[in-house]
Amino acid sequence: MLRTHTCGELNMTHAGQEVTLSGWLQRSRDMGGLTFIDLRDRYGITQLVFNLEVNSSLCIEARKLGREYVISAKGKVAERSNKNPKLPTGDIEIMVESFTVLNVSKTPPFTIEDNTDGGEELRMKYRYLDLRRGVNKRNLELRHKMAIATRNYLSDQQFIEIETPYLIKSTPEGARDFVVPSRMNQGQFYALPQSPQTFKQLLMVAGYDRYFQIVRCFRDEDLRADRQPEFTQIDCEMSFVTQEDILNTFEGLAKHLFKTVLNMEMSDFPRMPYDEAMRLYGSDKPDIRFGITITEINELVKGKSFKLFDDAELIAGINAEGCSEYSRKQLDELTEFVKRPQIGASGVVYIRYGLDGNPKSSVDKFYSPEDLLSILTKFSARPGDLILILAGKEEKTRTALGTLRLEMGKRLGLLKPGDFKPLWVVDFPLLEWDEETLRFYAKHHPFTSPKPEDIPLLETDPGAIRANAYDLVINGVEIGGGSIRIHNKDLQKKMFSVLGFSDEDAADQFGFLMNAFEYGAPPHGGIAFGFDRWTTIFGGGDSIRDYIAFPKNNSGRDVMIDSPSAIKEEQFRELGIKLAAYQLTSLPTATLPPTVNRPT
Ligand code: AMO
Repeated sequence: MLRTHTCGELNMTHAGQEVTLSGWLQRSRDMGGLTFIDLRDRYGITQLVFNLEVNSSLCIEARKLGREYVISAKGKVAERSNKNPKLPTGDIEIMVESFTVLNVSKTPPFTIEDNTDGGEELRMKYRYLDLRRGVNKRNLELRHKMAIATRNYLSDQQFIEIETPYLIKSTPEGARDFVVPSRMNQGQFYALPQSPQTFKQLLMVAGYDRYFQIVRCFRDEDLRADRQPEFTQIDCEMSFVTQEDILNTFEGLAKHLFKTVLNMEMSDFPRMPYDEAMRLYGSDKPDIRFGITITEINELVKGKSFKLFDDAELIAGINAEGCSEYSRKQLDELTEFVKRPQIGASGVVYIRYGLDGNPKSSVDKFYSPEDLLSILTKFSARPGDLILILAGKEEKTRTALGTLRLEMGKRLGLLKPGDFKPLWVVDFPLLEWDEETLRFYAKHHPFTSPKPEDIPLLETDPGAIRANAYDLVINGVEIGGGSIRIHNKDLQKKMFSVLGFSDEDAADQFGFLMNAFEYGAPPHGGIAFGFDRWTTIFGGGDSIRDYIAFPKNNSGRDVMIDSPSAIKEEQFRELGIKLAAYQLTSLPTATLPPTVNRPT
């Protein structure tokens, strides 16, 4: 045995015992006659002591050990004279009698500490060293705990985990596919699944009425803090259910995770229709940890010769409570914030509600004090408050205000870590009009069922159809989304046609599903959760990268294994891909079948 115990488990109850520990040398200190070494493994850190007087040659050997050397040390557990209450093993130390160097190590390029001196790129290149840091270890442990709790809960609810293939034909989830050339079918390609959507629906047709899978999905999309090209879903589907059944079942899962992982008892999750979320929060994933909402004031401000407002589709704002004394500089910062290209507003109009009860605004020229007071009343403002107003195109103004609202929430310290506010957003629109391509796209995916009462609108006003679709949002992050599916072949056909698929396109891409629907498809629906996102939210992190063992960087690269990379000419030959064709940068535009567009 290279160890009798781990570096995280010894305490005073072991005092006097002879033990062997193995691990990595975290730090070593020489204090005159004593040498201390912190030995680290997955479970913790234990202090080793070498006494020059007791065994000088051993102590001298110990002083030669470098950082991250792998050693195995044997000795007696002793009570420490100065205990370290921050360490679970801080009451004891090991008086080392012998040790073996199991392996040497180069000096690592950054310190293996929670607060390391290594930059992100360097840590990613040496991810195996980065993963030795306690912070990453805790993140992966949390991830594991969430996975186990999910499996236990769903299995107890009669769900079975079924694996679906990774080499498939593309699933239309809105992003680009990663494709894999086939050697045996030259000139043809598999696609890696963006989600197991169609397979889980086929499993419902097959009668597996409660399916789940913790599954890798692949999407070739631009990356952000909450997006990776390969990420993991808790993917679920159920038969013979209504939307209500699904929301209740998965609220149960969410509450179970809150309880088992965070030890938090959650009350029932509120539900909010999509329209309300957009109107009050300027977002389809509102962060309801704080109460600032959007107030519309078109009727109070138009017709007073202020061109910006007169020309705008929507004039609306938020009340930054207690901010009336914001300095010029702070207001300028907010103006710069909303003018950033990602937000694209032309500027902020403000009204200060002075502590003396008098309003003062950046548009005093156009509005009398009475006008301003009536606006303040509409915002339920009190002296000391600051109203921030944006104006412009309706949708853009709402989302800009949504972002400004979040920024104010941050500035005012209202986004409290450790505070969790889940929310179901329901009644999403079925379709989304795209001005560029002048056609409808599925807001969720083309298998989502319209609300039965809205089906007639398919012929007359598709944009107004609401879907049986829902998202789970926690603290402003879209954790999961799903829908009740279409299970009727004719309705599915109709839906493809509204989305601009020709009959041939639909048959070519989804013939298998349409055929399956002819063999007794049960009513069904489901949801998929972003497992990395959920873990990140629970862990209080900023980026899902920190909760994935081997993530890609923002350019989609794994800098450790240096991927993606070129392949050998020989491999091209085997795959039947002509190198010259591969190197073409602008291939003739193929007629691509339409894909759906659902930014995640
Ligand atoms: P959707 O596309 O909404 O639905 O994905 C479900 C959840 O997966 C997470 N997610 C991501 N996480 C990390 N990186 C990404 N690139 C990424 N893309 C999505 C989000 C999202 O809410 N098949 C449907 C589900 C269904 O209808 O049952 C689907 O995949 O948290």
